[in-house]
Amino acid sequence: MSGLTAAAALAAIGPRTGDTVLIGGAAGGVGIFAVQLAKLAGARVLGTCSESTFGFLRGLGAEPVAYGPGLTDRVRALASEEVTAATDLFGREAAETALKLGVAPERISVVADGPAPPPGVRKMGALDAGPGALESIADAICTGGITVAIAATFPVERIREAVTMQAQRHVHGKIVIAL
Ligand SMILES: NC(=O)c1ccc[n+]([C@@H]2O[C@H](COP(=O)([O-])OP(=O)(O)OC[C@H]3O[C@@H](n4cnc5c(N)ncnc54)[C@H](OP(=O)(O)O)[C@@H]3O)[C@@H](O)[C@H]2O)c1
Repeated sequence: MSGLTAAAALAAIGPRTGDTVLIGGAAGGVGIFAVQLAKLAGARVLGTCSESTFGFLRGLGAEPVAYGPGLTDRVRALASEEVTAATDLFGREAAETALKLGVAPERISVVADGPAPPPGVRKMGALDAGPGALESIADAICTGGITVAIAATFPVERIREAVTMQAQRHVHGKIVIAL
């Protein structure tokens, strides 16, 4: 689901060589796929996270930038060149930042529930992923092109803790429930 959601978010904006893509919430379960898929497509990737997550995000190939007030200025300083596309996996901040930086709305997508995105910005979900997306992601995992970070593993008896951890929205990668 998370891989397909990432694939759908990127299908809307078509990252390619020469692009600089801003990804909001880049270190989460969806973000780890989005970052790596955008890199595989040839794009430069800037990803939002908290400062304590910078090292993790660099390990995925993204250039980290802290979310929160002042994001537009920080992205401008980090990118040094034009940001050309964006996807927001957490909320609306990265999408709004991209608009302020002059990214065309049709090259911005969001996935999270929330207020309607600005006109032209598409909201995507796993069902919008293109045909063959799951197979491509599985192949990339098998051949080492995509790494699936495991944030934590819980036995099924402790699933409540797993859900609580996920709901706090500071997970880095996937949470595994062992049956
Ligand atoms: N996971 C799935 O399988 C899945 C499937 C389909 C759809 N979705 C949807 O996709 C969206 C993303 O889900 P997710 O599971 O990837 O992650 P999430 O739980 O929404 O977010 C986790 C990430 O968000 C970052 N974050 C926390 N506060 C932030 C803020 N204010 N601005 C930007 N980033 C912030 C965290 O980084 P720090 O720890 O560095 O703060 C963390 O890496 C959600 O709306 C979810 O409902 C998820």
